[in-house]
Amino acid sequence: MPEPLRLGIAGLGTVGTGVVRIIQKHAALLEARCGRPILISAICARNRAKDRGVDLSSYVWEDSATALARRDDVDVLVELVGGDSGPAKAATETALASGKDVVTANKALLAHHGQALAEQAEAAGRVIRFEAAVAGGIPVIKALTEGLAGNQMHRVMGVMNGTCNYILTRMESAGLPYDEVFEEARKLGYLEADPNLDVGGIDAGHKLALLASIAFGTQVSFDAVELEGIGRIAIEDIRHAADMGYRIKLLGVAQMTGRGLEQRMSPCLVPADSPLGQLQGGTNMVVLEGDSVGQIVLRGPGAGEGPTASAVMSDVLDIARGTRISTFGLPAAQLAMPTPAKAAAPAPYYLRMTLLDKPGALAKVAAALGDAGISINRMRQYGHADTTAPVLVVTHKTTRDAIDHACRGFATTGVVIGEPVAIRIEAV
Ligand code: HSE
Repeated sequence: MPEPLRLGIAGLGTVGTGVVRIIQKHAALLEARCGRPILISAICARNRAKDRGVDLSSYVWEDSATALARRDDVDVLVELVGGDSGPAKAATETALASGKDVVTANKALLAHHGQALAEQAEAAGRVIRFEAAVAGGIPVIKALTEGLAGNQMHRVMGVMNGTCNYILTRMESAGLPYDEVFEEARKLGYLEADPNLDVGGIDAGHKLALLASIAFGTQVSFDAVELEGIGRIAIEDIRHAADMGYRIKLLGVAQMTGRGLEQRMSPCLVPADSPLGQLQGGTNMVVLEGDSVGQIVLRGPGAGEGPTASAVMSDVLDIARGTRISTFGLPAAQLAMPTPAKAAAPAPYYLRMTLLDKPGALAKVAAALGDAGISINRMRQYGHADTTAPVLVVTHKTTRDAIDHACRGFATTGVVIGEPVAIRIEAV
């Protein structure tokens, strides 16, 4: 009789409940697939009285995640508590110190403490798996650590926050401003308890930092991710971008360059007919580029009970089968400390500004761009008001520094009204 793999599940929110449901529904299938039964020994959650719609009566209830992590009848802690410190961190450390493997969906914890936890796991001969932490149901950690292990990775990109993609695509389809769609998203329950985790780009930045570590063999360095959220995206830019053949996405890009590791999570224009440009609603997409494979595009649900629990179960099954992989794909001691690139690689930019509609105004704008060393690729003007005219410019490749230089120049022309908008155009 094969030894069962015994789980302790900490956290019975949407994902934890989903994991219990899969284990109950597919017990025979899971056992057949990994050659041993997957059992739940004990669980813990904040609210014991809540009806979660699953039968929890045969599991031992623990008062704390840390107590759960210490139990002799638990082989694997499934940490679904969340948060970058507090009980999630304490329970993870306790589990590793008590000789248990850890499966977690906690991107914040690993983005902040990934290196230390990976070192602790390896010193204890245990593993930490975190498929559910990045892009929900998309098996991107497995794709990078296993499927693409034979490649030198060039670039990883992704739309990895479904809430932001919902907001941006809904703004475009309904022609509504950001604030209104943000409120809709709140009412629909799409936003995290701290909405800035979503719309500030932090949640997606955590995910990007984890992917970059695996892709480039570097220590997780979330602090070096250049972060910008979607709060300043105006409906005008979404419309104008569409007119110029682009869509605006909260896009994460990580690449190793001669100047160091570049990690950016920011609104970007992407071609409307590219896979990223066509991504609608709360769906996630990850694009992986390796030297041998070329480009891989993975698309799927980035959140929700079923997809996230599905990813947790993939890690549980790996452990049950005896598959043991270093946390970030390399032994922790071999992960290099990355040098952050000081500036992003040059790219074309989209500029939108409002001009006084009078002779010579456009020439002054063109001169300010020329002064900054920026070459114009395309320019459009339409929708004039009485005395003003909007101007849209797509530049040739340039740097953010040059764009800032040009914007300082615009301010001295006396014809540019208000702040110009500048958004990077990413080649995807
Ligand atoms: N709030 C995230 C999203 C899911 O909207 O994609 C959890 O990372």
